[in-house]
Amino acid sequence: MTGMASTQEERANEAVTAHRSIAVVVGGSGAIAKALVHKWSQDPDLTVVSLSRTSSGFSKVQSVITDYSDESLASAARHVAAIGLPLSRLVICNGILSDDAIRPERKVSDLDVAAFDTVMSVNTLLPMRVLGAFWRVIRDAEDPRIAVLSARVGSLEDNKLGGWYSYRASKAALNMMLKCAAIEARRVNSRAKIIAYHPGTVDSALSRPFQRSVPDGKLFSPDYTAAQLIDILDSVVADGDLSYLDWAGQPIPW
Ligand SMILES: NC(=O)c1ccc[n+]([C@@H]2O[C@H](COP(=O)([O-])OP(=O)(O)OC[C@H]3O[C@@H](n4cnc5c(N)ncnc54)[C@H](OP(=O)(O)O)[C@@H]3O)[C@@H](O)[C@H]2O)c1
Repeated sequence: MTGMASTQEERANEAVTAHRSIAVVVGGSGAIAKALVHKWSQDPDLTVVSLSRTSSGFSKVQSVITDYSDESLASAARHVAAIGLPLSRLVICNGILSDDAIRPERKVSDLDVAAFDTVMSVNTLLPMRVLGAFWRVIRDAEDPRIAVLSARVGSLEDNKLGGWYSYRASKAALNMMLKCAAIEARRVNSRAKIIAYHPGTVDSALSRPFQRSVPDGKLFSPDYTAAQLIDILDSVVADGDLSYLDWAGQPIPW
């Protein structure tokens, strides 16, 4: 048993030493996250780390299970730092729109304190806590490209329909906090770039209850939006500011 374990470990270490940098995907069990992890796991330059409440199930990927507590996020960041390669990509995919207890509000009187707290905690605070836990890793990285999954419905200017109070508010607040982080990142690592990414309407557990109103041809596959995000991250320039971009790489008004 011991011999086998060390052989496996040696093989894993050999694989890692051939890599040049690390890509971390947080919320790795989600549809968009899985598509990213799968694509990056084919890249011979990358060590891919999937951070999730459940195992990634991909063989060439380091799966780190987390409960998203401060301790667990700090331990995940230490794990990534200990790999000994620079971080080149960090994508945070966590987000919730509805569940058994939460329905997106149609009217202001639908607001519910517990539902609002959960949506803000998962969509706004959690991505920022992840950034906080990984801040040293980001500081020490050579050219880190960071994307946090936001949504076009977080745009005040684009809001023509109303509704979905908590989800919209959570993404608008996320964008504001990411703006602060982009400004702070200028001081610690001027080569870092942060984007708030709108993936389009994507076929996933999150969108499934709301797909009926999506026009034909407007429901993207997770693979498509992941490929778009990878291209955007490969080409985006570190300008010391936050970009709020859609799947086509087009800026979204705030
Ligand atoms: N699908 C769309 O049409 C669409 C449109 C605009 C924006 N987005 C955004 O894109 C992101 C990814 O969405 P998706 O479509 O891939 O959804 P999904 O398949 O339902 O994935 C949900 C993600 O959220 C995390 N999550 C769910 N509940 C959580 C909780 N209570 N605590 C911590 N993490 C939780 C999961 O992390 P674990 O791996 O830990 O389970 C997973 O990464 C979200 O931020 C979403 O708001 C999606």
